[in-house]
Amino acid sequence: MSEAKTPEDLVARARHVAQGAYAPYSNFHVGAVVVADDGTEYVGVNVENAAYGSTMCAEATAIGAAVSAGVRRIETIAVGTVEGSGHYPCGNCRQLMQEFGVERVIVQEASGSVGVHSLDDLLPHMFGPDDLL
Ligand code: THU
Repeated sequence: MSEAKTPEDLVARARHVAQGAYAPYSNFHVGAVVVADDGTEYVGVNVENAAYGSTMCAEATAIGAAVSAGVRRIETIAVGTVEGSGHYPCGNCRQLMQEFGVERVIVQEASGSVGVHSLDDLLPHMFGPDDLL
């Protein structure tokens, strides 16, 4: 587990991790840090593909790493880019996040500041497991 604790630390780590992104088509290098309920961190990067639709987002690969290690509850996810541009997770990744109860989504805002958002704010009226009951 890393020592990263503050939102700023987590975005800085995501941006560092993003250096490992495979993004030859978009040149948009994204990193994500998942913080599990026990504080353990898992990272991911975007992995692009010549068949563009097969590309995986950084958030998705980070969630996949966490789930592969047995995590079922994710407290926080932070994202950042090498380029330093502000961006919010795509809609598909917001849906992936809701499955594991993500509470905080930490992003670099376009202004350069670090923003902390609830998933409820980013994905209102979300569809979840309870809807299948
Ligand atoms: N991407 C992410 O990794 N996460 C996001 O939240 C938005 C988009 C990636 C997918 C693709 O490799 C590149 O950024 C451009 O869309």
